[in-house]
Amino acid sequence: MRLADKVAVVTGGGSGFGEGIALAFAREGARVLVADIDEASATRVVQRIAETGGQARAIRADVSKGEDVAAMRDAALAAFGDVGIVVNNAGTTHRNKPILEITEDEFDRVHAVNVKSIYWSARHFIPHFRARGGGVFINIASTAAIRPRPGLVWYNASKGAVVTASKGMAAELGPDNIRVNCVNPVIGVTGLLEQFMGKPDTPENRAAFLATIPMGRMSTPADIAGACVFLASDEAAFVTGACLEVDGGRCV
Ligand SMILES: NC(=O)c1ccc[n+]([C@@H]2O[C@H](COP(=O)([O-])OP(=O)(O)OC[C@H]3O[C@@H](n4cnc5c(N)ncnc54)[C@H](O)[C@@H]3O)[C@@H](O)[C@H]2O)c1
Repeated sequence: MRLADKVAVVTGGGSGFGEGIALAFAREGARVLVADIDEASATRVVQRIAETGGQARAIRADVSKGEDVAAMRDAALAAFGDVGIVVNNAGTTHRNKPILEITEDEFDRVHAVNVKSIYWSARHFIPHFRARGGGVFINIASTAAIRPRPGLVWYNASKGAVVTASKGMAAELGPDNIRVNCVNPVIGVTGLLEQFMGKPDTPENRAAFLATIPMGRMSTPADIAGACVFLASDEAAFVTGACLEVDGGRCV
């Protein structure tokens, strides 16, 4: 197993990509703290992991709140005695719409959940990673960061900030043996799909998106989880500051 003896926190682990990442990590031997603002969904994922013999705990946490992120760290330490991997996956978007229709509240919410969460994660996990001699951050950004679509301007910008923050962290924290990488998914079939599309999820509306992806399909939680398992594992021991597109060629 590729993550045996490791402990991971996965935010937004209650659905979509986060659920896939939590399940894959547990399958590879990691003990997983599944954190989500929706406690019931995190608990459901923990039950799925337990049914297959894995070890996991659930916690309700809002990643835009510093005290909740500190509580995630403390819960992982209390349950498992360590934490060496943090996957900052929780994220949100404003609906796909023209730039002048995006309200200040939407802008602030998107940046609080997508960007400030990385700030809090750094603040609360770096001291622990330094004390234990290293650690791994995996930040789920998006192809939106490097190949932005119209209608998603401030979401795109938030993910651009995630990519730049991750690279800056990698440069600064390399001497501490703390690796920081991004995964950039292309559009996937998750709870956020209709928001990204800005219209109903119909075969006709999907076709416009599929036409922009050379491999002709959307991403799946398993696709994103596969990249995360690699980046979390010792196979990636010298990989830091990378952004791995999992996008069927969208960004070529
Ligand atoms: N689905 C896509 O097309 C796509 C593409 C590129 C990147 N992403 C990114 O992937 C990540 C996961 O999104 P998803 O597509 O699986 O969506 P999703 O809505 O299925 O899952 C997001 C999860 O995060 C949780 N969450 C939301 N706000 C939170 C908060 N403040 N604190 C803690 N948990 C919170 C939700 O409850 C949910 O369980 C996000 O960062 C998203 O921006 C998604």
